[in-house]
Amino acid sequence: MIRVSKIGHVALFTPELERQVEHYAGLVGLATVARDGDAVFLACPGDHHSVVLRRGEAAGCAALGLQVPRGTELRDVARQLSGHGLAAEHRSDTGPDLPALVAFDSPDGQRIEIYEEREASGASPAGGTIAPLKLGHAAFRVVDPARSVAFFTEVLGFRVSDWMGDFFAFLRCGPDHHTVNLLRSPAPRLHHLAMELRDWAHVKEACDMLGKRRVPLIWGPGRHTVGHNIYTYHLDPDGQILELYTELDQMSDEAAGHWDPRPWHHETPLRPRRWEMDPFLSNAWGIPTPQGFRDA
Ligand SMILES: [Fe+2]
Repeated sequence: MIRVSKIGHVALFTPELERQVEHYAGLVGLATVARDGDAVFLACPGDHHSVVLRRGEAAGCAALGLQVPRGTELRDVARQLSGHGLAAEHRSDTGPDLPALVAFDSPDGQRIEIYEEREASGASPAGGTIAPLKLGHAAFRVVDPARSVAFFTEVLGFRVSDWMGDFFAFLRCGPDHHTVNLLRSPAPRLHHLAMELRDWAHVKEACDMLGKRRVPLIWGPGRHTVGHNIYTYHLDPDGQILELYTELDQMSDEAAGHWDPRPWHHETPLRPRRWEMDPFLSNAWGIPTPQGFRDA
């Protein structure tokens, strides 16, 4: 089995490249680590690169980048994908200091790029920007979450962290509660990407910076029950949802199989489970899910 160990990047198509660069670099505070024609590579300090903005006719997700441990043979990755009926292509020099990757389309039609773990950029964000620590997760709308979960767990080595009813699955590939979310929808596409902030004070600073730029929050701040992260959501200039979060549940001991205890958990030890669909249970506190958010 392929063993994905970390999210690499999310690549976004955009019809307004400079407007998106201004949002992700000038306000969110990712550092520009490379520019290659109509592609701009942006990094949080904790990632090699976190977001790739590519000029395209319509906004949308161009690719999800996933990393495998150093020393993993990409030829072997491609062979295993092919064993699952997935046609993989080898690509080289696809980004800054990124000599090789394997690209393929998931059963949901999502482009996925797999490459070896790379050094974090350590890039210093510009002052006066939000400056997230890292890219944390990507949430996708999929037609059949159970089928997509089977792909991520059986082919890419993810583990199921939680389900919300039977329509929303949360998967991990490391200690973070979730790295990929899968939400049932008739129209598959990226639902949101999420970046980690330092702490609650950092969330407040982020809200103040968004407010000064007249970028409204579309949900939050609040604390989720599933994953227990404090969250806010806003839209980037293309209308793509960007979540800024902190205090996401951690499973530092995979063998123990429970989340590291936190004072806001309702039970200890808290283990992966299926949460009820009661809308009040999607939040520990904060306003309920806004109308239309899941279908956004
Ligand atoms: Fe999220």
